[in-house]
Amino acid sequence: MKKILNLQVNGETHEIAVNPADTLLHVLREGLGLIGTKRGCDSGGCGCCTVLVDGKAVYSCMLLALSAVGKSIVTIEGLSTDGKLDPLQEAFIKAGAVQCGFCVCGMIISSKGLLMENPHPKEAEIRQALSGNLCRCTGYHKIVEAVRIASAHS
Ligand code: FES
Ligand code: FES
Repeated sequence: MKKILNLQVNGETHEIAVNPADTLLHVLREGLGLIGTKRGCDSGGCGCCTVLVDGKAVYSCMLLALSAVGKSIVTIEGLSTDGKLDPLQEAFIKAGAVQCGFCVCGMIISSKGLLMENPHPKEAEIRQALSGNLCRCTGYHKIVEAVRIASAHS
């Protein structure tokens, strides 16, 4: 039987009916239409579903929506302000860190979580923070460079 939840997503409270077994990923995409958060492996192995929950990067495919009640959730759609991209999004464009794009929203969200905690990370810290996000296209170098660019401007 569905339950009515209030989820705080990108600064707004959404009342939504969910099944107890629904993941946060499912509710974000199918319930709220926030399709920037991607479904890849659906089993905690690729990172393309990453969102911020209370400022920490988590796999939304591994979290029940019920467990996210009372927490602040931020998706890629929540990073831009008044149509202006987040500096990390700008940096990914500047560094050419986007190819097919499937991993990128998760990469940017994980990077955001890192920079919120550690505004000036070393390269090894960037690579460690992104170690749970897989990319099949870029070879990672340009992604790391993008985070360094954003870090230099923070
Ligand atoms: S879809 Fe969540 S980790 Fe792959
Ligand atoms: S840009 Fe294609 S998977 Fe990363």
